[in-house]
Amino acid sequence: MNVKGILLAGGHGTRLWPMTKLVSKQMLNIYDKPMIYYPLSSLILAGIRDICIVSQNENIQIYKNFFGDGNQLGLNISYQAQNDPKGIPDAININKNFIGKSSVVLALGDNIFYGRDFEEQLKDGIKSLNEKIASVLIHKVSNPSDFGVAKISDNKIVELIEKPKKFVSNHAVTGLYFLPNDCINFTIDLKPSDRGELEITDLLNFYLKESRLRHIFTGRGTFWTDSGSVGSLNDASNFVRAIQNSQGLVICAPEEIALYKNFISKGQFKKLIENYSSEYAEKLKNTIDYNES
Ligand code: G1P
Repeated sequence: MNVKGILLAGGHGTRLWPMTKLVSKQMLNIYDKPMIYYPLSSLILAGIRDICIVSQNENIQIYKNFFGDGNQLGLNISYQAQNDPKGIPDAININKNFIGKSSVVLALGDNIFYGRDFEEQLKDGIKSLNEKIASVLIHKVSNPSDFGVAKISDNKIVELIEKPKKFVSNHAVTGLYFLPNDCINFTIDLKPSDRGELEITDLLNFYLKESRLRHIFTGRGTFWTDSGSVGSLNDASNFVRAIQNSQGLVICAPEEIALYKNFISKGQFKKLIENYSSEYAEKLKNTIDYNES
């Protein structure tokens, strides 16, 4: 079964203004690398090679200049402009040709995951797509009103609510969605919410109604944040710095994960970083046995 990735790098980043006045939010740094590297790493770790980056027209060129066709990472990266931010599921509407007959993993460009079990959780999500089951990753949070949340009873999702004003559950639905091909059809029937956007929660509700929505708990050993606010951006940077310094390695580096997944050879990997002496490049060299062939 073919699975394609859609990476959302749009939005106005208003909560991060003025940093986002001239810079696309997903190009801001989370410690030593651009924010977009993190969701890109998640998609690569999920084994996905065909990835479409969605952003507004004025930023598409920046991403094209940055990633090109993705071949250097063993990927096929394409680009789709979304000028009118109509909500997360709209990225499916505007990508029907790209999706074709494939399933989709939709990754929000500001979501960062790191944990020992994360790769297994990605495998579970991908495996369910074979059975035409959608999956979401659920993370326990202390600020549920900032997210879509899942009310879970007897280990089953019974309700999904977008940014509940009153407490319903502290199980946040994170921004990595495993969607069977028929998400294309469900998205057509979505109506804008009170805030004028198509909501991902409403799309997931179609799957919930059909008993085709699975939840995967990220678990206690996983770090997750959406880094769309000043505080969470800073928390994410501090987390990445602390874990990288303690291990002397880099985390969420697309180059290294592409090598790990055999999307690129060690020679190709070396070529990507050989001319750089940044902290990122040096740690990357340390992450693999750089001097061994
Ligand atoms: C979006 C989704 C929300 C989800 C969150 C995860 O919210 O609408 O359901 O929990 O991403 O990051 P946004 O951050 O776009 O407001």
